[in-house]
Amino acid sequence: MNHIQARFSRITGTGSYLPPRRLTNDDLAAQLAADGIETSDQWIVERTGIRARHFAEPDVGSSDLAVEAAKRALAAANRSAGDIDLIIVATSTPDMVFPSDACIVQAKLGAHGCPAFDVQAVCSGFVYALAVADSMIKTGAASKALVIGAEVFSRILDFKDRTTCVLFGDGAGAVVLEASNEPGILASELHADGRHVGILCVPGTVSGGRVFGDPLLKMDGQAVFKLAVGVLENVARSVLAKASRADADIDWLIPHQANIRIMQSTAKKLKLPMEKLIVTVDEHGNTSAASIPLALDQAVRSGKIRPGDTVMLEGVGGGFTWGAVLLDF
Ligand code: UT7
Repeated sequence: MNHIQARFSRITGTGSYLPPRRLTNDDLAAQLAADGIETSDQWIVERTGIRARHFAEPDVGSSDLAVEAAKRALAAANRSAGDIDLIIVATSTPDMVFPSDACIVQAKLGAHGCPAFDVQAVCSGFVYALAVADSMIKTGAASKALVIGAEVFSRILDFKDRTTCVLFGDGAGAVVLEASNEPGILASELHADGRHVGILCVPGTVSGGRVFGDPLLKMDGQAVFKLAVGVLENVARSVLAKASRADADIDWLIPHQANIRIMQSTAKKLKLPMEKLIVTVDEHGNTSAASIPLALDQAVRSGKIRPGDTVMLEGVGGGFTWGAVLLDF
């Protein structure tokens, strides 16, 4: 009798890395005050929940952070770089225009030959990358993937714009995703609406050896806030329905770590007690594509997330992009 074995993907190891330089809100406020820009710990905490962020040194690129996170994820999965047959890096702050961070990471890890590419979906990047890796594993195109989110947003911040520069930080998180007979990833869904390109963007580009336009981050915070709150609830419900699960089945919610108010509102809409919400935005700020794998790794290593727990990951950000992945850990 022919028996067709279903093929799923599951996370077998997590890792993360934060650059050592930590700036509290007071540190940043003092730095901005030197340029005549006023902000305060009180404003930042009240509006965002952020208390500190990490910034990489000038000679450290997102690929360096990615490699450290990847090494830790590989060790947790009990795998070596040579076992990996797919590398995807989610980043909007790659080392170079090209080649991709993924190729640079591959070279630094010494894992030659496997496909390696970047996914650019800003703060939804990790959820996009995880969904792509899951699809490639399900089709048999890969069986052991390294999926990484890595950012150095400090490089694209306008330190004269207090409405944005206090929000972001640098860091990286990674997972090893392996083929498995059982899920693993239960369901995922990705979305984009390019009509909202202008509300969160870095409008500069490189042309003729020069930077054209403004290569610093611009955000209409309130427009992003309103869109984010709506789409995060809808996409979570849709992914739960696809997986035939209910709100109450979620053990842990890991939304993109941008603003504690958005995260709490999503948890409330999903009728989840706040204890089920993983929060790292207070210590990391918004690390864009790195925020979800960083939060996941911290929650795993602290013993909160345990094997068998059901976890909802939700990304939202520039594009406008959003998406969710529901998984059994
Ligand atoms: O990663 C992608 C996803 N991104 C997000 O999810 C970001 C979503 N948006 C937000 O998180 C919030 O909109 C912000 C945190 C960016 C802003 O919070 P808000 O409650 O929407 O504040 P606001 O923009 O309405 O500004 C309120 C006041 C303004 O002053 P006036 O006009 O009321 O006098 C701002 O000028 O706060 C002022 N302000 C600040 N004051 C001190 C803005 N930034 C600062 C600051 N320090 N850093």
